[in-house]
Amino acid sequence: MRVYPDYPDKAALQQTELSLTRQPIHHDVLIIGSGAAGLSLALRLPSHLSVALLAKRQLEESNTFYAQGGISAVIHERDSVESHVIDTLNAGAGLCDEAVVRLVVERGPENIDWLNNLGVEFTRFPNPATGPEFHLTREGGHSHRRVIHAADHTGRAVQQRLDRMALQRPNIRIYENHLALDLITESKLERPGNRVLGAYVYDIDSERVETFAARFVVIATGGAGKVYLYTSNPDLATGDGIAMAWRAGCRVANMEFVQFHPTCLYHPMAKSFLITEAVRGEGGHLLLADGERFMHRFDERAELAPRDIVARAIDHEMKRTGADHLWLDISHKPADFVREHFPTIYSKCLEFGIDITRSPIPVVPAAHYTCGGVVSDHKARTDLPGLYCIGEAAYTGLHGANRMASNSLLECLVFGQLAAEDIQSLAEHTPIPENLPIWDESRVSDPNEEVMVAHNWDELRRFMWDYVGIVRSNRRLERAKHRIDMLRLEIREYYGNFRVSNDLLELRNLVDVADLIIRSARRRHESRGLHYSLDFPFIDDAQQNGPTLLYPNNYRKRD
Ligand code: FAD
Ligand code: SIN
Repeated sequence: MRVYPDYPDKAALQQTELSLTRQPIHHDVLIIGSGAAGLSLALRLPSHLSVALLAKRQLEESNTFYAQGGISAVIHERDSVESHVIDTLNAGAGLCDEAVVRLVVERGPENIDWLNNLGVEFTRFPNPATGPEFHLTREGGHSHRRVIHAADHTGRAVQQRLDRMALQRPNIRIYENHLALDLITESKLERPGNRVLGAYVYDIDSERVETFAARFVVIATGGAGKVYLYTSNPDLATGDGIAMAWRAGCRVANMEFVQFHPTCLYHPMAKSFLITEAVRGEGGHLLLADGERFMHRFDERAELAPRDIVARAIDHEMKRTGADHLWLDISHKPADFVREHFPTIYSKCLEFGIDITRSPIPVVPAAHYTCGGVVSDHKARTDLPGLYCIGEAAYTGLHGANRMASNSLLECLVFGQLAAEDIQSLAEHTPIPENLPIWDESRVSDPNEEVMVAHNWDELRRFMWDYVGIVRSNRRLERAKHRIDMLRLEIREYYGNFRVSNDLLELRNLVDVADLIIRSARRRHESRGLHYSLDFPFIDDAQQNGPTLLYPNNYRKRD
């Protein structure tokens, strides 16, 4: 556990207490995940509720931290809720839930105010008449400038500010390096009912499994980009919450809709570095190797088409020309403008010898965002009583078949707020669960085949990229299905016999999530939004105009 220079007492106290206890740890609310979703919920809960906030790595390491472009909200006087709703519905290609879209968009401005009041420093420009105003940038699919941002490091600004606030709250207890591995439910304990009572959590430092009991459990574990070989996501994005909820009996939806971001930096030494869509929003051009622009051949909005269209166009051109990457050029803009708007990208590229004020940036698409997830309603409730799901791990109906840029952080904030309201209204009448069994390791031994775990990680990510990537076909999906079935058997056997480890737990989740993606993709016999199949190249509105819902074997309809 890390010691925070500003708050040494809190961190030291937690460490000492943790090393003394192996009994179940009780809290009112257990939040699994400390990105924008988990933190905004934690900070909105009333101070009389004790909150456990888990992070499987360090507190600030999350997809949220790496967000660049910004947060969409209707701020400008010429913009409107209606326009943001229509843009979101269009990007979602007919599969958004309009009521949810409206709910999220309407709550946008108050959530930006909330962040602003907490002290997040968004980029502003001087307005002589009214004083400093938010600078609004543009991204694909948005018909207005409506993306509020902190230069090109919006996520860092949000994450660090929310971390700081959480560290100051006496009722929030932060458990870093704690990886939730499975939910504890009444039905698993053979008690009547199906309520979620807590979770088993692997303490990465001590290599022990703790039992957490809570009145309410919230999955805020983010997405699953690591299912793919190339991704913009950090290493922790292994879909743990989706896999845990599925195993516990929750439905998941729309897992075939994996968003590939069109422009990640292509360089042998660069790992997962995004070049924000705002570069195109501020006038950047996509170029072929010979310097020709090509996006207008695919969509009249050219570089500002929704990103499924841009990613597929890049993929098409790379395959057609045999190129390893294409180019994104903003060097025609004044150098000061580029450095001021994109300081993070400017300095990162400079580390690799690319001066973006003078030359184009080599880019490729990479897996970026999981549009599907755990089915949750407009209060963030899932199929299991006591269990909520918020943020990228959730399927709320906001994104449909394709997420519009910068709608994700907004969804995290709004559903954090909605979950907090619901938990607060129910807390008084919900007891803390008692007598949860501690983790039993008596029948397992130390792992003897770590190579199997490493090999399967690599194999999984590669075949998902090759067979279940930007362009799919029946045959590719069939192959992927074959391989995932074998991997699931191997992992299940290994998991049952050996002591758990970080890599094994993440691999188990990746395999479950990959299986859900493959199953969903095989059910969608059309091309829509982010799902493109060579065998079904058109939209089939008559047969397929709803979400893809998967039901686990242990599913029970919620009372
Ligand atoms: P995350 O921020 O990913 O947080 C997940 C948390 O869960 C982490 O704390 C992690 O440690 C924890 N966790 C995971 N598994 C476990 C486990 N088993 N046990 C305990 N803890 C666990 N969206 C926008 O709207 N605008 C943008 O500009 C934007 N830019 C992006 C740029 C990049 C490079 C990336 C990768 C994404 C971007 N997105 C953007 C998407 C957006 O950042 C994410 O969808 C959003 O931050 C997800 O927030 P979250 O709170 O749901 O999850
Ligand atoms: C970006 O900045 O291009 C990413 C925005 C997003 O994923 O919403």
